[in-house]
Amino acid sequence: MKTVFILNGPNLNLLGLREPEIYGAGTLGDIETAARAHAKDLGLAVDFRQTNVEGELVGWIQEARTKADAVILNAGAYTHTSIAILDALRACDKPVIEVHLSNIFRREDYRKHSFVSEAATGIISGFGAHGYILALDAAAKLVG
Ligand code: DQA
Repeated sequence: MKTVFILNGPNLNLLGLREPEIYGAGTLGDIETAARAHAKDLGLAVDFRQTNVEGELVGWIQEARTKADAVILNAGAYTHTSIAILDALRACDKPVIEVHLSNIFRREDYRKHSFVSEAATGIISGFGAHGYILALDAAAKLVG
């Protein structure tokens, strides 16, 4: 069975409480439950994680080089700041699907640039929690 890492960055543990008008009322636990159910239908194994620590995300992306077949990444605000995450993604020769709950291109200017996009296979942004489901469909296609 192919394995997909679903990695979530800073403040995504606060989903449901944090700016619900932007990010929705659902929690990260709700997203994990829906993602696991959909992955099961697709015949994919899922490793779902969240951290507020940049270096931990870097370590997990490095781990994906040998333990994952594809990576779904919502790097939160590190999307817009982290060259360390970009370098880790460049060293990971697996498909990478960048996900954002909000449409980062219709928000503040500082959110319009993504370092993650420079290494991502593709990006899904603006579909709320459903973006994770769309990303799993893309991952299934990419890993065959
Ligand atoms: C986000 C968008 C980022 O700009 C923001 O810093 C987040 C969440 C999203 O999912 O829409 O934390 O990645």
